[in-house]
Amino acid sequence: MMDDEVEMVTIYVMGKRHRVPAGLTIMKAMEYAGHQFRRGAGCRGGFCGACATIYRTKGSYKLQGALACQKIVEDGMYIAQIPFSPAEKKTYNIEELRPDAGVFLEYYPEIARCLSCNTCTKACPQDIMVMDYVQAALRGDVEEAAKLSFDCIGCGLCAVRCPAEIVPYNIGQLARRLYSRHIVGPTEHVLKRVREIEEGRFDEEIEELKTLDREALQERYETRERRL
Ligand code: SF4
Ligand code: SF4
Ligand code: FES
Repeated sequence: MMDDEVEMVTIYVMGKRHRVPAGLTIMKAMEYAGHQFRRGAGCRGGFCGACATIYRTKGSYKLQGALACQKIVEDGMYIAQIPFSPAEKKTYNIEELRPDAGVFLEYYPEIARCLSCNTCTKACPQDIMVMDYVQAALRGDVEEAAKLSFDCIGCGLCAVRCPAEIVPYNIGQLARRLYSRHIVGPTEHVLKRVREIEEGRFDEEIEELKTLDREALQERYETRERRL
């Protein structure tokens, strides 16, 4: 593709200059420039959180975060991927925990160091009120922390920016687990479906699916009934 056929912009990927078509996402632009994503890409649709990216645009002091599969490239963008943010994730048995502030402080005592600086909220590509859910957890308001963090995809961009080295997405995940297990509990429609499975209602259909080849399965998947 020639520069005079389509508008092109200049981006820098880990310091190397590339000319790429305007209008591409960072992920597509990087692939256009010859990068192959073996890590740092999953769903390509803004749901899995695997493609966290930091960037700075020319002349700006701001270091910004985005999902590479969602953010459109801008001219003069300096880009680096953060496909993984090293974080300590605690192991617990959710059945044994109590849904209160004590549990957050026991497993993630660093939340007491929260400076209320709001850096995490500004870093979140999902526009989640991250500081608010961390603060809700600190107060023991499990429901508020669970609801505010509901759209978290675990990209890690909040964690890499937090000056107190808190990992907000682990806090949100614990809140949602506590909320669903100890506050709302399993809903009636889930229990009904589990009963139906146990009674063998879907056995025949499952056996039939097992006989289909990949193309037939794909066709079934694409034409499936969807209730939204
Ligand atoms: S970035 Fe860290 S310290 Fe600042 S509000 Fe968020 S969790 Fe608290
Ligand atoms: S809360 Fe943190 S981990 Fe979750 S989507 Fe926002 S920046 Fe990513
Ligand atoms: S690849 Fe899944 S959110 Fe970008």
